[in-house]
Amino acid sequence: MADTVWWKRGTVYQAYPRSFQDSDADGVGDLRGITRRLDYLAWLGVDAVWISPFYPSPMADYGYDVADYCGVDPLFGTLADFDALVAEAHFRRLKVILDFVPNHTSIAHPWFAESRASRTSPKRDWYIWRDPAPDGGPPNNWISNFGGPAWTRDEASGQYYYHAFLREQPDLNWRNPEVRAAMHDALRFWLDRGVDGFRVDVIWHLIKDEGFRDNPENPNFAAGQAEINRFAQVYSADRPEVFDIIAELRAVLAPYPERVLIGEIYLPVERLVAYYGANLTGVDLPFNFQLIQAPWNARSLADLIESYEAALPPGGWPNWVLGNHDQPRIAARVGPAQAAIAAMLLLTLRGTPTLYYGDEIGVAHVSIPPERVRDPWERNEPGHGRDPERTPMQWDDSCHAGFSDAEPWLPLSPDAATRNVECQRDDATSLLTLYRRLLRLRRDHTALSVGAYRGLPGMPDTVLAYDRHDDAATLRIVLNFGAEQQTITLPEERGPRWSLLLSTHPDRPETTIAGGFVLGGDEGLILIRDHP
Ligand code: GLC
Ligand code: MG
Repeated sequence: MADTVWWKRGTVYQAYPRSFQDSDADGVGDLRGITRRLDYLAWLGVDAVWISPFYPSPMADYGYDVADYCGVDPLFGTLADFDALVAEAHFRRLKVILDFVPNHTSIAHPWFAESRASRTSPKRDWYIWRDPAPDGGPPNNWISNFGGPAWTRDEASGQYYYHAFLREQPDLNWRNPEVRAAMHDALRFWLDRGVDGFRVDVIWHLIKDEGFRDNPENPNFAAGQAEINRFAQVYSADRPEVFDIIAELRAVLAPYPERVLIGEIYLPVERLVAYYGANLTGVDLPFNFQLIQAPWNARSLADLIESYEAALPPGGWPNWVLGNHDQPRIAARVGPAQAAIAAMLLLTLRGTPTLYYGDEIGVAHVSIPPERVRDPWERNEPGHGRDPERTPMQWDDSCHAGFSDAEPWLPLSPDAATRNVECQRDDATSLLTLYRRLLRLRRDHTALSVGAYRGLPGMPDTVLAYDRHDDAATLRIVLNFGAEQQTITLPEERGPRWSLLLSTHPDRPETTIAGGFVLGGDEGLILIRDHP
């Protein structure tokens, strides 16, 4: 078990490069900044850092609009800086995962300029061009994920091009073999530079319906939801042919040992698990975002864990995500007391955990004044913007929280002087210390990293309990999602003694537990029983 591949054993940490660490006093984080903070990541105890896009880009969607797949935007540094980052990371036994954005390019990508030049351009078919509908309007009813129609008319040729996101992000035509070959080359470019894997942006979008049929209306659409939800994305995404594309991506990675392929996929569990592919020819880890979307209570979470475990295909490795650069911060969603429970849940469930930078110190929602809004989605659809979860990392109580010597591109959280890495790192009661201890436990106990999962029935309504076990030990995790204390009776009444490994309440007096105990409000704990 201990020799299980790193991406099953390990933990992924997402660094949003604009906001992690600035090294050149321009208020924007960069690659050298990340390199400078690798010691922190090693100290924290994560195994891999996933870096959101740093490629040349006009930054219409802050790097998710790529103008060159094989370069580094000067804002973030140089290729040499990147190579240094990889070398320094590997020296610390940290893996480096890149963000690969294959669904669309930037409008500034030379491929698009060529494609747009004329209807007969050799690259015309690299993107998705369609004639107008008979009334001159867009070819069908597809909506952009950032609101408004997903089609933009190009005056020169009179045709529309498709963009699932901004009009500055035209979708590539993955049915075209030349596109596939060019993108495979981009993957190899980075694989040859030593990267350990890719998180593939909106992978379930790569193939669209060949007939471009209208999406059906979504009967559950409610006021306040983003416009994209007006229709069910039946024909614009999650098409069966996408699995051939993914199998080809896998084949590109195959000659390189132990590389991981992660897919960003927002779909219900039964569709999500299809992305492991037939005979596991899909992605290694289809990102599981259920903890982000589920109601935060013990019963709902127990149900979703059971149904996810049951839905996994044979050999499919689970994974869990608590936050990312597109979702409200976990501490904002569940509150500070439950942020500790969330940490313990994420790091004790079966499956690879992905942590989002700043969540380990409990950064919550940061209000962005209107004049400082950056996310284009916020401009299109106010209230949906993602700036509040992209604010600079809070390192210490110096000017700009140690993030930069200049005014940061997004405002810092107002609590940065008191909520930061420096003041939490030596505080035994801090969230950061809890994260670090949990990550340490995952390394010390294979039961926790790669052991089996077994739900524990008969708990009070607000309590979720489960075992993680392997040949060496059983670890029992008991989490209280409520603020009231609860009396817990363990099923094995006259059974074994359990030793307390860790509690979210560092002042808990007991060190061993048998039969039952009182679990504090908002308390989570981990018990261990060694096997003879
Ligand atoms: C993904 C990214 C998001 C981006 C979008 C378009 O969902 O995580 O940040 O805006 O794709 O690339
Ligand atoms: Mg900078």
